[in-house]
Amino acid sequence: MIKVGIIGVGTVGTSVVQILQENADVIAARAGVDIVVKSGVVRDLTKERGLAITLTDSVDDVINDDEIDIVVELMGGVQEAFAVVKRALKAGKSVVTANKALLAYHRYELQEIAKERAFEFEASVAGGIPIITALRDGLSANHIESIVGIMNGTCNYMMTKMTNDGVAYDDILKESQELGYAEADPTFDVGGYDAAHKLLILASIAYGIDAKPEDILIEGIENITQDDIAFAKEFGYAIKLLGIAKKEKNEVELRVHACLIQQDAMIAKIDGVMNGISVVGDKVGETLYYGPGAGGDATASAVVANIIDIARSGKSTPMLGFNRPMEGSQLRLKPTEKIKSKYYLRINVSDRAGVLAGLTKIFEQNSISIETMLQRPAKNASANLLISTHTALERDIQNLMSTIEKLDFVNEKPAMIRIL
Ligand code: NAP
Ligand code: HSE
Repeated sequence: MIKVGIIGVGTVGTSVVQILQENADVIAARAGVDIVVKSGVVRDLTKERGLAITLTDSVDDVINDDEIDIVVELMGGVQEAFAVVKRALKAGKSVVTANKALLAYHRYELQEIAKERAFEFEASVAGGIPIITALRDGLSANHIESIVGIMNGTCNYMMTKMTNDGVAYDDILKESQELGYAEADPTFDVGGYDAAHKLLILASIAYGIDAKPEDILIEGIENITQDDIAFAKEFGYAIKLLGIAKKEKNEVELRVHACLIQQDAMIAKIDGVMNGISVVGDKVGETLYYGPGAGGDATASAVVANIIDIARSGKSTPMLGFNRPMEGSQLRLKPTEKIKSKYYLRINVSDRAGVLAGLTKIFEQNSISIETMLQRPAKNASANLLISTHTALERDIQNLMSTIEKLDFVNEKPAMIRIL
């Protein structure tokens, strides 16, 4: 019998306990051994949880319990979780976690500490989709050319509801929290950080790149307005928050931001809490992964899969999938200012003579070429200029944005969304 201790019995932890109990027959058949939860750790012991397991509020009760083989960390956060997981590994336990924030900062140290011990984290990226297994095992013969995907269920749920039903941003964020999709601090979701944590984990497996969230371009969905959603729709685009990793020669670009995507593209059709990730390998070509990216049961499905895997074999493949330094020793992170994209801009201007001439001059000064431009009348003798650019440098667009927002005929901070 394999005994499990769960540190954090909230949305995901509760589902892990339930799945291990409700699907015990199929799990035992697949693992070749019975798997039971011996105890769980929570902060508040007075909360009613309706679970038939022993609960404690002391992490020590799990880590120092010699009968526990596998510690499952589902408490969230970075530093406290890092300390707990290190102690569990040092105490000889195998570890499973869904904690992408922890891995975004400490994955390489954890790989070093775990060494031959099993350390699994399938649920940390894209909830129920087995993307880590696909990338680390299924595609291990390939050089990975790109990873592009919807990696945050909360943002995708919110954007879908805002687009299809016109629901207000705050209302739909509250609903995502109630449904158990959002992080304890939802600014991690809407600010793009959660997707960035996941992108960094995938980039380690694909490229051996050791970047931190602070090193990469991260923007969220907080500034997307109903105006932009409506204009995007009218011109045949959907707006999605994407994580993008792309290799070009010896550089890898990593970025998270909202994107305009043509409505007929597969990724534009991924709605609700679903995640969808495209991975291109040099030998296999494009592969696509789709499924629920958040929620208790979907996430716990991946956690339990890791537990079964450890119960079967006792040890995992190297945590990040490589035994010797990978391409990462030659590959560098591309500096943000060198990233290239096409851009959509919405600039609300006073509707008077000379405004367009003044504006286009600034585009020229920043070496940005306009591809299309449309003017739409707006309130109070103003107009919305809707502009799409040819491919431009991130550095140039940032300079352009900071110049035009100060112009006297520009009425509000202009909107900028990158086009995929
Ligand atoms: P949650 O509902 O907030 O649950 C966290 C649990 O940890 C709670 O039981 C809490 O106790 C306990 N806890 C927190 N700090 C603790 C401490 N210092 N000592 C003891 N117990 C502590 O979070 P969740 O949504 O289940 O997420 C758990 C992890 O899974 C996070 O890393 C998250 O990023 C990740 N994840 C979540 C999802 C999802 O859809 N929810 C999907 C993928 C990954 P109390 O109950 O007493 O407060
Ligand atoms: N808050 C995350 C999301 C949970 O919405 O995708 C899954 O990692």
